[in-house]
Amino acid sequence: MPPRPPTIFAIIASSILFYSIAAVPSLATGDPKAGRKKALECQTCHGLDGVSKLPEAPNLSGQVETYLVKALNDYKSGARTNEMMSLVAPTLSDGDIADLAAWYASIEVTVQKPR
Ligand code: HEC
Repeated sequence: MPPRPPTIFAIIASSILFYSIAAVPSLATGDPKAGRKKALECQTCHGLDGVSKLPEAPNLSGQVETYLVKALNDYKSGARTNEMMSLVAPTLSDGDIADLAAWYASIEVTVQKPR
């Protein structure tokens, strides 16, 4: 006996959902442990813990993950330029960017308003 229509719809709907999620690379989440290793090449300027070591370099710890991915992709594509980051970013693969963003985003920071 063939499956009844509601079953077919459920199968189609769930496979569309599955493939649309699988096809969107921006939803691929990085591995923070792998990112920590890759961050060795960022530490001179950003610190391994994401706290800046250079007056021109921003802190990265606790930064929003999607923002970090976007910033790195923008330096890589040339949409954003900086004499240092425009040299670093093109050497990073999509996986490197995802892992580095996951690492820096996973570092917990606490903030305190001035009194
Ligand atoms: C030689 C120093 C140097 C190195 C090495 C370096 N950066 Fe940077 N990075 C900078 C500077 C300076 C800026 C600020 C650039 C600007 O004004 O656009 C920056 C900006 C960024 C930003 C944008 C932050 C924001 O708030 O918009 C990200 C993300 C970033 N770096 C990630 C990395 C990662 C990941 C690595 C290692 C793979 C790395 N950087 C290596 C100097 C460096």
